[in-house]
Amino acid sequence: MNKTALITGATSGLGYEFVKLFAKDGYNLVLVARNKQKLEEIKQSFKNIEITIISKDLSLSGAAKEVFGELENRNIDIDILVNNAGFGLLGNFDELDINKQVEMINLNITALTELTYYVLPKMKQRNSGKIMNVASTAAFQPGPLMAVYYATKAFVLSLSEALVEELSGYDVTITTLCPGATKTNFGAVANVEGTKMFSQAMTSDIVAKQGYDAMMKGKRVIITGGMNKVGAYTAKFFPRSIAAKLAKYVAGEK
Ligand SMILES: NC(=O)c1ccc[n+]([C@@H]2O[C@H](COP(=O)([O-])OP(=O)(O)OC[C@H]3O[C@@H](n4cnc5c(N)ncnc54)[C@H](OP(=O)(O)O)[C@@H]3O)[C@@H](O)[C@H]2O)c1
Repeated sequence: MNKTALITGATSGLGYEFVKLFAKDGYNLVLVARNKQKLEEIKQSFKNIEITIISKDLSLSGAAKEVFGELENRNIDIDILVNNAGFGLLGNFDELDINKQVEMINLNITALTELTYYVLPKMKQRNSGKIMNVASTAAFQPGPLMAVYYATKAFVLSLSEALVEELSGYDVTITTLCPGATKTNFGAVANVEGTKMFSQAMTSDIVAKQGYDAMMKGKRVIITGGMNKVGAYTAKFFPRSIAAKLAKYVAGEK
């Protein structure tokens, strides 16, 4: 029987690239995002696998639980979870809309945490499973002008690395994907396309493939791109006050 992967944020960017990679390897898929029409179109375009679509705004309270309720009703077990849906916002913390920033926390942190919580018991019971949590190179330092976004990604990395240790002894792996700037809809949504950090964005197919391969090998953390690796590792050695200044610099206009 084919294994099943659940991908959040499957309608665009990295999520859609993951859809193509899993489909090529014959996985059945559960795709979650808000845009029902796009989900339908994706479902129609892959004939070799079973695709279940769930149109859901994951930033809403209880959404992750509802997703798992639907899966239980349809007797679908998840072998691989890809927590990919997320967004960012550029601007001074006190000038950005607080409701949008809370929505970001709900999506980037709460939904990811709850989905991970709901899949883990069965994965442990079966002693088999994989989770990929999409963080960012933003996870490695404070990020002035995208303060909440960087903080959400630091949470994702910290949670994921802690769970890797809790899961030692099980054949259940958690991989944290940390991309740098990547050409997707993220740039337009976050309003960062005109910033220095986006002057050398990678393509989404390459980033997704690196993440996919790392997840299949059960790696803990994958930082995509040579320059991003250098940036993330140097951020570890700089005082955080300096790392924050550098992050503010790259968030400025080109
Ligand atoms: N692109 C980059 O430069 C970059 C860099 C580092 C990390 N990342 C991370 O990569 C992940 C994927 O982003 P991307 O770059 O592929 O961006 P994207 O092209 O904007 O895709 C975001 C996906 O998330 C879904 N989504 C957004 N809000 C949602 C909500 N409330 N409920 C359910 N689904 C929602 C969107 O679908 P709907 O609109 O249909 O809901 C879409 O499928 C994110 O976690 C992002 O933080 C991106």
